[in-house]
Amino acid sequence: MARLREGLARLARWFDQRTGVGAVGQLVQKKDVPIHRHTVWYYLGGMTLFLLLVQIGTGILLLFYYRPSAGEAYESVQFLMAEVKFGWLIRSIHGWAANLMIVTLFLHLFSVMLLKAYRPPRDLTWFSGVLLLGLALTFGFTGYLLPWNELAYFATRVGTQITEVVPLAGKFLIRVLRGGEDVSGATLTRFYAIHVALLPAATATLLGLHLWLVQKHGMSVPPGAAPPTGPRRAMPFFPNFLIRDLVGWLTALAILAALSAYFPAELGTKADPFAPAPMGIKPEWYFMFMFQTLKLLPAHILGIEGEVVGVLGFALAGLYLFLLPVIDRPTESGVSSRVFTWIAVAIIVYMVALTAIGYLVNPAQ
Ligand code: HEM
Repeated sequence: MARLREGLARLARWFDQRTGVGAVGQLVQKKDVPIHRHTVWYYLGGMTLFLLLVQIGTGILLLFYYRPSAGEAYESVQFLMAEVKFGWLIRSIHGWAANLMIVTLFLHLFSVMLLKAYRPPRDLTWFSGVLLLGLALTFGFTGYLLPWNELAYFATRVGTQITEVVPLAGKFLIRVLRGGEDVSGATLTRFYAIHVALLPAATATLLGLHLWLVQKHGMSVPPGAAPPTGPRRAMPFFPNFLIRDLVGWLTALAILAALSAYFPAELGTKADPFAPAPMGIKPEWYFMFMFQTLKLLPAHILGIEGEVVGVLGFALAGLYLFLLPVIDRPTESGVSSRVFTWIAVAIIVYMVALTAIGYLVNPAQ
């Protein structure tokens, strides 16, 4: 046993001398997590990371069977669900983990927003986070089409149509996105390449930056959360915080398994581009608030098409979100600005209300 331990230590030394990886271990050992009344929100980033890892693992397994063409995609998923041992479970976990990840991602975003964790020097952490959110939503949008079923086909037609309202470049953008005039096998191939190559590569790069910045700056303490006098309270990241993280991750895994067993992913009928659009086309739930907004807007607002106004409004909201650390000057100088807190609350209320209206008021449309 002692010789084994000595051998392993020698191997670790050999590896460290060549890579310098020991510095990461030292960083982790030094890292601590502040304790105050908002500490619980620090678990959300790690939870999002765990769900992303589940996505990557199950996504790779799905790739062993999936075939990215209009002629074979639906059949390959059908085969996976019916014939491949535990294929249905892997596909269901991939779907449920995607949805839960979007939930924890939004909770992570709004918690760091309300706790003003975007203040410099964490502004770059925030910028990388907003881009990661964009990537996660694009993962969802492109993944939805891959099984090539009827609902996804028509939802993608409606979803891609929206790019057409972009002034000047609209026609060009929609062609690039669809790989032609309409949603077709070319769109499926494109979405597949984006989903399994482009987005994972971009996510890995940005996530690397995000996590490195979190290590570099440590966890922020929200304004007013720490006692003005006395020593700062904190717990070591390793092992105290990590063990709590692991308990959360195990719980998430149990929830994922239960959801997948009781509510397995559905497949529906195969997409038929020549069939009339079915009733009840709806996007994924996280796009519902935008879908519903565009539906409720009048045809024309001040002489401009309602949809154009809506899309421009969302583009401006996205820009506001991205630039928040630059716009919120008072918080940067250490004063917690109430205006920006109320704007964050208004955004949350708007998103929840429009999503609820989308599902409750017009469930059949
Ligand atoms: C795939 C997506 C993401 C992953 C895996 C991720 C992961 C993490 C982790 C592990 C932490 C440290 C623990 C914590 O504070 O929860 C963190 C911190 C942070 N994240 Fe994210 N994050 C993601 C997306 C986002 C988004 C969308 C935003 C906001 C726009 C964001 C902004 C931040 C900020 C500002 C911090 C520093 C918090 C502090 O110091 O108090 N992240 N992230």
